[in-house]
Amino acid sequence: MHKLGRNEPCWCGSGKKYKNCHLGFDSRLEEYYYQGCLVPPREIIKNQEQIQKIRESAKINIAVLDYVTEHIHAGITTEEIDRWVYDVTTKMGGIPAPLNYEGFPKSVCTSINDVVCHGIPSPDEVLQDGDIINVDVSTILNGYFSDSSRMFCIGDVSPEKRRLVEITKQSLQVGLEQVKPWGFLGDMGQAINDFAKENGYSVVQEIGGHGIGLEFHEEPWVSYVSRKGTEMMMVPGMIFTIEPMINMGSADIFTDADNGWTVYTADGKPSAQWEIQILVTEDGYELISY
Ligand code: MF3
Ligand code: CO
Repeated sequence: MHKLGRNEPCWCGSGKKYKNCHLGFDSRLEEYYYQGCLVPPREIIKNQEQIQKIRESAKINIAVLDYVTEHIHAGITTEEIDRWVYDVTTKMGGIPAPLNYEGFPKSVCTSINDVVCHGIPSPDEVLQDGDIINVDVSTILNGYFSDSSRMFCIGDVSPEKRRLVEITKQSLQVGLEQVKPWGFLGDMGQAINDFAKENGYSVVQEIGGHGIGLEFHEEPWVSYVSRKGTEMMMVPGMIFTIEPMINMGSADIFTDADNGWTVYTADGKPSAQWEIQILVTEDGYELISY
């Protein structure tokens, strides 16, 4: 890689001189690299301008989920949720990122009970009293991506399922406590995994979080069964999701052979997931989307 002069413009596109921008950052990263750490590539380090655009995209994502939070109830179909997501997103000038993404046919993922993720909204699927559902919303605004999801308890949900939803939500906070620059993604992954297991649950291995911002799915892939001190280093300017899928029973899953998308628990027991999008900052993190 071409070594930048101290007075040349920084590679991040800030317009500042290299010495006043990412020079210190690069030296530190290089040291860790020579120690054998997995360090992030430059392509996934966002500058202030990009971060601002991603925040604007996330405003829509949050508004869409707020709308769903206010309106969801027993008796509606998941197709109606899909319609809300499409309408609110496009009225605000955005595009639902899932629509036509690798052939996904709808604007949002709706995953009920034993559906782990990637549930496809349908006019035949009616929300029942006692269901738990994940609504996973992703938005593109001016080419910038945001992504977050929430769980909803429909009507009178059993204490067992409520607890799964609650512990999964709490696991995000447990993970967030490990998010700081120059730490490792595995610090966060292990914290979430330990917390889920302490509570008697299991964590899905095959599907995880991801970098996001300039693309829907960027490096790194983010595991929640990883170990402290391993995986990619977290550095300022990185944006990724925390979105563990936590199962009441075994961690085993399978994908619907007919539609190629919908992921179910192998044992038919419930699964929960919450997703947030975060930016690593100089002293911790900023919540971008929730
Ligand atoms: N929103 C999902 C995520 O968190 C991605 C869904 S891909 C789709 O990564 F095509 F199913 F929408
Ligand atoms: Co995601």
